[in-house]
Amino acid sequence: MTDDRAASTHVATTPETRAQADASDSMANRSHNRTLRPESTTFSKFMLTGWGEEEADIQPLESSAYTARRLEELGQRFPGERLVIPAGQAKVRNDDCDYAFRPDTAFAYYTGLGQDYEAGAVLVLNPVAPGSAEAVQGKTHTPVLFLHPRSDQSTQDYYRSAAYGEYWVGVRPGLEGIKTMTGIDTADIAGLEDALSKDVGTEEGAIRVRVIRNIDPEITSTVDAIRTAGGFDNSDATASDDDTFYQFASEQRMLKDEYEVREMRKAIAATHEGFTRMLEALPEARGKERGERILEGRFNANAREQGNAEGYGTIVASGAHAPTLHWMRNTGTIHDGELLLIDAGVEVDSLYTADITRTFPTNGKFTPLQRELYSVVLKAQKAGFEAAQVGATYSDIHHACMRVLAEAMHEWGILPVSVEESLSPEGQQHRRWHACGVAHHLGLDVHDCSQARYESYQGATIQPGMIFTIEPGLYFKENDMLVPEEFRGVGIRIEDDVLMTENGPEWLSHAIPKEIDEVEAWMAAAAAK
Ligand code: GLY
Ligand code: MN
Ligand code: MN
Repeated sequence: MTDDRAASTHVATTPETRAQADASDSMANRSHNRTLRPESTTFSKFMLTGWGEEEADIQPLESSAYTARRLEELGQRFPGERLVIPAGQAKVRNDDCDYAFRPDTAFAYYTGLGQDYEAGAVLVLNPVAPGSAEAVQGKTHTPVLFLHPRSDQSTQDYYRSAAYGEYWVGVRPGLEGIKTMTGIDTADIAGLEDALSKDVGTEEGAIRVRVIRNIDPEITSTVDAIRTAGGFDNSDATASDDDTFYQFASEQRMLKDEYEVREMRKAIAATHEGFTRMLEALPEARGKERGERILEGRFNANAREQGNAEGYGTIVASGAHAPTLHWMRNTGTIHDGELLLIDAGVEVDSLYTADITRTFPTNGKFTPLQRELYSVVLKAQKAGFEAAQVGATYSDIHHACMRVLAEAMHEWGILPVSVEESLSPEGQQHRRWHACGVAHHLGLDVHDCSQARYESYQGATIQPGMIFTIEPGLYFKENDMLVPEEFRGVGIRIEDDVLMTENGPEWLSHAIPKEIDEVEAWMAAAAAK
């Protein structure tokens, strides 16, 4: 299949087709020398006739019952200001091939749009006029979602625009459809710049604009230019305003609503299924070249079947690969008698992701040494669960896990100092074998809320409604000459997802086995299939 994106250049006659043609044009240059494009008027007319109606099946999204509250909360924080939240553009993978589009997380949160809706779209919150009927009702903003209209059979772009034309990409919901899905008013993206610049200025009663930067560079520079034209001449100050906006958008996601919790449960259930499918494939994969990839393929196929995709690069790390924290190459052979660390999560269609790690004995039974090391990690994780209470901090979880690990390291004789000295800020020798964190917020992003301020994240107390991971491990590199030979090339992590409630942590991923006997039974059942 070769795409004919250049064809739209000669037909841009309305603002709509111009906007779409512009988007297509930049693509066009990527392929203009390798296709033969029919340009005749006869062809153009022919392509606009003889098509039956085509409509997408559009329903309100379940999230649409929740977005109004999210938008209100955001608006309350920035009254009187225009807020700009881009979805982002498709990213080039190579040449004229793009990655599957995934909207930016803030956009997904405030619109409820998941999957590949909708490249190039921009959510704008316009401040209501003081004294207006909306203001009297307590509203601060009216949201409008700017996007590309449908390029259906009535438009030349239908077959000329490879980016938006429905001949190329299938039926799109368009302005009406997205309004039905999200409950947010929609407008043609062609009117975005005018809408963004309206009444912007520094004088009394004029409007300030904030944008989530680094998502869509074109939107960021448009907003910057509008601010400069409006008299905002301190770019550092406006960039700092934008950072505050981004921080707030990140922090707002810390407390999950019921819908989000339901989506997380779905993501975890789909991830459980993905792990089972990998275990079913393990007997066949063991001993084969690139066996890790065989398992990765099983997990990722399941993620695509049940959800949008995997929520982050799947880690399948056997033997000496397991202590490599971000082993995503997955090119290794899975040998008999090793430990196999798998860290994987399904991202469901709403874009919520699970984040689960389990560590397996490759041939189904833990050896005595593997049992001993695994039991320490499990004990550390249970200590982390104990520490995870309302009012505690992430640091409390960290310290609880680290104490168990440091004590075990001391018993094994590998810690060069006492447990207390290692646990002190001046020591930390135990971190040689655990360099990563043990807990993080989880939701639309695997490391959700990561733009939050320190005092709202690491330094803040855990509250009901937060969803996070608890994930201690032990990582002994193959070339670590300071540990016994039999420890070398062993990596173990146990990672679960929890929801904080008034009564303590709810273990959302409890159905995914982690006790030694349960893991062995799970592996045996999967292998027997
Ligand atoms: N899978 C990434 C993490 O555990 O944080
Ligand atoms: Mn994690
Ligand atoms: Mn993980």
